[in-house]
Amino acid sequence: MMPIKIKTAEEIEKMRVAGRLAAEVLEMITPQVQAGITTNQLDQICHDYIVNVQGAIPAPLNYHGFPKSICTSVNHQICHGIPNDKKLKEGDIVNVDITIIKDGYHGDTSAMFTIGETSIRAKRLIEICYQCLWLGIAEVKAGKRLGDVGHAIQRHAESLNCSVVQEYCGHGIGLAFHEEPQVLHYGSPNTGILLEEGMIFTIEPMINVGKRHIKLMPDGWTVVTKDHSLSAQWEHMVVVTAEGAEVLTLRNGEVPFQVQKKV
Ligand code: MF3
Ligand code: CO
Ligand code: CO
Repeated sequence: MMPIKIKTAEEIEKMRVAGRLAAEVLEMITPQVQAGITTNQLDQICHDYIVNVQGAIPAPLNYHGFPKSICTSVNHQICHGIPNDKKLKEGDIVNVDITIIKDGYHGDTSAMFTIGETSIRAKRLIEICYQCLWLGIAEVKAGKRLGDVGHAIQRHAESLNCSVVQEYCGHGIGLAFHEEPQVLHYGSPNTGILLEEGMIFTIEPMINVGKRHIKLMPDGWTVVTKDHSLSAQWEHMVVVTAEGAEVLTLRNGEVPFQVQKKV
């Protein structure tokens, strides 16, 4: 196994820039995520913005053969959905996952969007998943362990009768898209690797309304729930500090979240 790279102050500064750019793509695309637009159109708009406005590189494009610049995962799609010519429609939920490369360093973040009025169960799932993300982030601090992060996420999701996808996880990130460590979204307290200042990784829980099991579609990328239940995902990129987590992909107006237990 490759060792976990501890980032220098200079590298952390570059990751702040990359994280901010990835967040800005989500901010830019937000008003476009509406009924009637196709995920291919969202991909095209993001691609052009990343390349022409940000002077950055869309990391997914050609990554292990991925054909598009962003991932769009709709309804029962869990992650790695490939943008296509199908229009988003009233009631859909969609994850848009953005990864950019700037000055060699990766910024990775994703968010959920609702199209028009969606079901109460869909809104609840999205909210629970967002709480899971922030409960995981709240565990991050030098001296804690990765199992603490996974446990906080799993405990919350399962206490509300949702399930946690286990086959995909968060990841270290920097000069490479996916580095050590693997950040599982389940686990036991006080287990796993010890967090050290200067580690940078993503937390990106995938939470299902139904069972946790997955199926990979014949396109080789799109991951869906085996029982076709709805799935949600949110993703932030964090750096470990002595005081806690510095979130590198905060969007405008997004405040470090106080989890309210009522859903
Ligand atoms: N952005 C995804 C992640 O959070 C990875 C997408 S890989 C791709 O790790 F090839 F599907 F783009
Ligand atoms: Co990621
Ligand atoms: Co991502």
